[in-house]
Formats: sequence, C-alpha cells, structure tokens
Amino acid sequence: MLDGKRVLLIIGGGIAAFKCLDLIRRLKERGAAVTPVLTSAATEFVTPLSVSALAGEKAYTDLFDLTDEAEMGHIQLSRIADLVVVAPATADLMAKMAGGHADDLATTLLMATDTPVLIAPAMNVRMWEHAATQRNLAVLQGDGLRVVGPNEGDMACGEFGFGRMSEPLEIVAAVETALAGGPLNGKRILVTSGPTHEPIDPVRYIANRSSGAQGTAVATALAALGADVVFVTGPADVPPPAGVEVIAVQSAGEMLAAVETALPVDAGVFAAAVADWRVKRESSSKIKKNKGELPVLEFAENPDILAQVSQMKSGRPGLVVGFAAETDDVISNATAKRKRKGCDWIVANDVSPETGIMGGAENAVHLISDAGVEDWPRMSKDLVARKLASRIAEALS
Ligand code: CTP
Repeated sequence: MLDGKRVLLIIGGGIAAFKCLDLIRRLKERGAAVTPVLTSAATEFVTPLSVSALAGEKAYTDLFDLTDEAEMGHIQLSRIADLVVVAPATADLMAKMAGGHADDLATTLLMATDTPVLIAPAMNVRMWEHAATQRNLAVLQGDGLRVVGPNEGDMACGEFGFGRMSEPLEIVAAVETALAGGPLNGKRILVTSGPTHEPIDPVRYIANRSSGAQGTAVATALAALGADVVFVTGPADVPPPAGVEVIAVQSAGEMLAAVETALPVDAGVFAAAVADWRVKRESSSKIKKNKGELPVLEFAENPDILAQVSQMKSGRPGLVVGFAAETDDVISNATAKRKRKGCDWIVANDVSPETGIMGGAENAVHLISDAGVEDWPRMSKDLVARKLASRIAEALS
C-alpha cells in the first residue's frame, strides 16, 4: 500500500503517455496522492484536464505560470513528494536529465529535487539501443536514479523490440519497492576502489592502471539497494557515485587508515587495486638527475588491507568480499588468494591486456566462495556490480 505517500508524476511526450491515466488510477487505488506535471509534448498525447480529473489535483504544465510560482515555487513542488516518477521517460527527456537541462517545468523540477527518482523509459527500439540513450541511461543510473523497464514487444511505430513502457502495475510495483526502501536499508557497507599512488618524491609516484570503474559501479549498485555506503577511493579516473560517503585517499597507508575509521560495517567490498609496494624512504624534495648516476629505490611492502580486515579477531564485517586481478591461472590463483587472505568471497577476473578489462567498460568474473566457483558471463561492469550487490543483499538478509 502507498497510504500517505505522495508521487510527483512527470509525464513525458510519447505515445505511452496514455498509460499514465491508468497509472494515476492504480497509484490512487493504493492510497497515494499524485501531483501530475506534463511536459508540453505530453499535452499532445493526453490532456491536462483528463490527467487532473483522475489525479484529483491540478496538473502543472508551465514553468512560467506566475500564479503558481506565487502559490508554490517549483522548488517546493519538487520536494513535497516522497518519490518522483518520470513516465514515459522519452529519449529526449532522458538526454535532458543526463545533461542537467532545466528549460521547462518538468526538467527544472528534476534538477531541483532532492527526492528519489524512478524513470519508466519508453521509445522506439532503435532509439533505446542508440549509443546516446545507453550512455544517458548509464549516467542516470550513476546518479542513483531507479529504472523500470522498458519491456520487449510490439510498438506503436510497428517495430518490435525493447522500448515499450512498463505496464502501469509494473510501475506501481517499482514505486512500492522504491518507497519501501531497498533490501540493504539500514546496512552499512564499505567499498574500496581505484588505484593507490605511492610517492617517490613530491612530484613522482608509483601507480597502476585501475580506473576505479568497477568499484564505483559496486558502490552505486549497493546504494541503489538502500545501503549506507562508505566509499574509500584512491585517485580514480571516474568520479565517485552520488549519494555515498566519499573518503578520498592517495596511498595504501592512507587507505588502510580510512578503512579502519569506517569500521564497523556490515560488509566490506575491497575493489581497490592497492599497490603492493611503496618506496621505503619518500624523498622530501624532488630527486635530481645526477650525471651517470641512477637513483636506487628501495621498496617496502604495503599493508594488505583486505587480509587485515578479513582476519580481524573482533568487529570483523559479517561479509568480506575481495577482488583478484590475475593474468594467469585466474581461478587457481584467486582460490588460493581467498584462503590466504581469509575473505569470504573473491571476485576473480583476468586482467591480461588482451581482455581489455583493465580500464574498459566490461568484465568477465568468477565468484569464488565456500560453495565453489561460479562463472559469470562477460557483461558490463555495471551489471557485474548489480549482480554482486543483489548477492550481497541475499547474504546479509
Ligand atoms: N588488497 C588490499 N591491500 C593490498 C593488496 C590487495 O586490500 N595491499 C586487496 C584488493 O583490494 C583485492 C585483493 O586484495 O580485493 C586482491 O588484490 P590483488 O592485487 O589481486 O592481490 P595481491 O594481494 O596484490 O596479490 P598479487 O599482486 O600477488 O596477485
């Protein structure tokens, strides 16, 4: 039931807008209040009168309606709801959202809101599959938006494929899930991510090729399931996810200190590519070239953060997940690594240059646990992250 909940429903300009009339009825049947907003394109498909009659509330359409601005500013309108639902989320509306446009009431509300947002995409299959839409989708998911659909089927334009908006009852179920909070609500989860930089002198350091993409995707997926995420990140290429607590570090030593501060947690996911060695004596001034003389760097071993947390005598997280980046004998090396470090699960992947995984958008992993080895097919790092997050949710439930 949705008693006492308020949904701000933004109706985009697509043929699927007609389904919003039924969606409003279904939401109201379950006790939700619905504040409808139509983009100007949406008014070509459904009338504000029918929308407002079903919602039992005024349907808003124009950012520059001075009467409404005096009554209730758009900022306020964007914040009175428990959830913002965008249905249909057209390719154009998704692009505007991903780009941060605010040139009409609907997009201004979406920029001004601090309320969770659920989108129900609907468009022609080619538009859905277009690289630009998929890029925008990834941006929106990275921003923490929830997505329902689209479904596969016949389209109004005569084509077949993915792009049909979810049915009203499917959207209602997604609204209920979003408002109930995710399965990881109330769970605090630590994620380490990115490379570490080990200083040689004030201008030079030792690093590795990790982009931080996989760790960032894991943190995003865990937060989307309602977890309270502490994200300890080295200097990564990708920005940290929205809506998580970010602790930025440089070296392995700093990462260990940040992890210790973040404890206790219900689970820890150690996706960082921590440098194994640091330079024993960091020079406090820039090392100069001396004709014919080559500097000799002496190394010291860095603390193994995953092993330390896995082997904690008290206060160990209930679930400790490590990653294993290997170039040879992936499964046997990763299985041995799990035992050696004492973590519960290892997500193993092959990072040989020819796989394109290090720094790329995809990953092919094996999940190694007490139960054995599971081979996951090659998929986007986002999908790996979502699959892993739901497995973590099952394990902590
Ligand atoms: N790890 C860590 N601290 C370190 C080294 C690694 O927390 N000093 C964690 C990584 O975040 C990852 C796992 O240990 O979850 C395995 O990292 P990997 O680099 O594959 O293993 P190493 O222990 O460095 O072993 P090797 O380099 O010999 O393969």
